[in-house]
Amino acid sequence: MPAALPIRNRPIRIAVVGLGQIAELMLPPYLAHPDVEIVAACDSNAERLDRWRPAFGGAAMTTSLDELLAMPDVDIVDVLVPTPLHGDVGVRVLEAGHHLQLQKPIARTLEDCDRLLAAATANGALLRVLEDYVFFPPLVRLREIVRSGELGDAVGLHMKVVNTGRGGWDVLPTAYEWQLEQTKDGRGMLVFDHAWHQLAVATWFFGPIRSIVGWIGETEVVPGFALDAPATLAWEHHNGLRATLDITLAVDTYWKSDFYSCDERVEVTCARGSVRCNRISAAGRQEPSLEIYKDGEVRSFHTLADGGDAGFIASTQHMVHVLRGETSEVVMDGASARHVLVALLAGLDSSADGVHLRHLD
Ligand SMILES: NC(=O)c1ccc[n+]([C@@H]2O[C@H](COP(=O)([O-])OP(=O)(O)OC[C@H]3O[C@@H](n4cnc5c(N)ncnc54)[C@H](O)[C@@H]3O)[C@@H](O)[C@H]2O)c1
Repeated sequence: MPAALPIRNRPIRIAVVGLGQIAELMLPPYLAHPDVEIVAACDSNAERLDRWRPAFGGAAMTTSLDELLAMPDVDIVDVLVPTPLHGDVGVRVLEAGHHLQLQKPIARTLEDCDRLLAAATANGALLRVLEDYVFFPPLVRLREIVRSGELGDAVGLHMKVVNTGRGGWDVLPTAYEWQLEQTKDGRGMLVFDHAWHQLAVATWFFGPIRSIVGWIGETEVVPGFALDAPATLAWEHHNGLRATLDITLAVDTYWKSDFYSCDERVEVTCARGSVRCNRISAAGRQEPSLEIYKDGEVRSFHTLADGGDAGFIASTQHMVHVLRGETSEVVMDGASARHVLVALLAGLDSSADGVHLRHLD
């Protein structure tokens, strides 16, 4: 049986599975949070356990998932393994009687996604998908501004990602291995893995998507290996709002970043003006992270927390609120994550079939 919720009057006890690249962003907010205790960690690669052992104090460390799942006194398991393993590892966590937090994308296939949702329901467990972008403070502020109506009705959403090979941290080679493997069946690193963030943000802004079209190209980066860009997705929400996302590969461009090095923009155009987020992962051109244009004037935000880790910190805080029963909004719950996956797969299918509009209903 999963831990009874809400959890009050004691720390939240987390077990982590997978201590690779994203653990570098996920774990520091746990370690810094007074209400969170990392009680156990598992990675099939013992070197990754050694990387974190000094920071984890008395936490149990193991290379065996079975061993971790048999441990008592675990409230929630945070799964940070490669996406192709989300279905199998996530279902095992749920069937072992734990609440589950899973990285985005929820799964590589709808079948795995549905197995996860069914296992969560059958075991009475919480399933939360970690989508840090919907906690990134400039995007949170942007959404508030649009919803306030001060710029009139929203009439369009424009998103852009420029990926590069320069700047930011050195990603673990093992993280690239499985990501590159994924590209082979058309669910690749730049569109399937990364555009997940943008579709999650779009649905969080404007609700479900009703139609989508994808036009996905490829660029050879090393002989015999191509990445899934340039790529464009265009879609319409049920509320009628149209949106576009452009993904470009500019291999030799340098972006300043302490984390991943892609440059990202999100702009919502409203009837009387617009509001634009100028960075997410990388610092981009060092503009203020949020700007409003209205009636011939620009208003800039200079003090929002806008580092590449800011969304992870805020998401951790929210997860604690959920487990403490201080909010009923899971963000993202399984159903919301499933909708993002359905839309993303429809966009990929439309490209594969010759760029035809796909209706989700
Ligand atoms: N939120 C974000 O912005 C963001 C960014 C990057 C990655 N991610 C997601 O995080 C997940 C992991 O990505 P990553 O880049 O950290 O990959 P990674 O390859 O660097 O790390 C995965 C880790 O899991 C371990 N592992 C693999 N199988 C295991 C198993 N069965 N049991 C225990 N450990 C196992 C590996 O040894 C490795 O250390 C993916 O789903 C990815 O999409 C999210």
